[in-house]
Amino acid sequence: MPNLSMLKIIARETLARERMERTPEPSLVMDDEDQVRAYVAAGRETGVMAPTYVFHGANISDVIRPGDCVLDLACGPANQLALVARLNPDVSFVGIDLSSAMLVQAEALIKAQGLSNVSFQAGDITCLSAFSDCSFDAVVSTLSLHHLPTIEMLQQTFVEASRVLRPNGGIYITDFSRLKVRSSIEYFAYQYRNKQPLLFTQDYLNSLLAAFTLEELKAAALPLMGQATLSSTWLVPFMASLKSSIRQPANPKLHARFQELIQALPTCHQTDLADIIRFFRMGGLKSGLLV
Ligand SMILES: C[S@@+](CC[C@H](N)C(=O)[O-])C[C@H]1O[C@@H](n2cnc3c(N)ncnc32)[C@H](O)[C@@H]1O
Repeated sequence: MPNLSMLKIIARETLARERMERTPEPSLVMDDEDQVRAYVAAGRETGVMAPTYVFHGANISDVIRPGDCVLDLACGPANQLALVARLNPDVSFVGIDLSSAMLVQAEALIKAQGLSNVSFQAGDITCLSAFSDCSFDAVVSTLSLHHLPTIEMLQQTFVEASRVLRPNGGIYITDFSRLKVRSSIEYFAYQYRNKQPLLFTQDYLNSLLAAFTLEELKAAALPLMGQATLSSTWLVPFMASLKSSIRQPANPKLHARFQELIQALPTCHQTDLADIIRFFRMGGLKSGLLV
């Protein structure tokens, strides 16, 4: 049952006639050292983003299978990528990002975790000219599209993702989507302000203000729409995911690993994860690895 604050947001978002304008991210590529450090900390096992990474990690795992080569668009410090790579050791991953500070963090994390199935390249997700057509079995991306300055660049990213993906490949591309009312956006941004550095709260607010709308994401994702479905959190679409059909064969070991990850989360993050699962399920997206 949604809490009172959520009920108010649902009412405001449902009744609002107009939507606030987009404010593009002040720093398009995340190269500022303090900002990178705050983002890295928030994504580690007990950080505020941990439940989100478990949720998206399960959905990514659904669309990949052993032997695959997977491209992660704008991998950042690889918090998400490391989690998925650790749980899917028979899959190889390539992470690309434009920020050298992020790639330094990503390399360090992969090394610290002893993972040998991940490599990184500096690259722009709007122009994947380093990769030939149909060169990946799956393309994934988490929480990054809002960094793109324009809708044209968003469209270009989907055109490129579609070009490098082989036919019937796996897709899981997720990001925030922009709500209508500023106070709804502020609720999500400030929800955990006491548990995270101020810089991360500001970064989160900027992300939500810079997010594309669900309609914009749907229109841009057209090149992949025949192979995937776009879903969002129910009634308050502050997160949206484009997911292809499941490609992972039944894998009880992987299911057990996700259950262990959930149990290892602090109680407050388990509650957050349950909310994300519920709101996405009501919006049409679920993963059997999380139940
Ligand atoms: C909020 S972080 C998300 C990182 C990671 N995917 C995650 O889920 O934690 C966004 C990342 O997008 C990167 N980025 C922004 N624009 C980019 C572009 N055009 N090409 C490649 N990376 C880009 C930034 O440098 C940053 O690392």
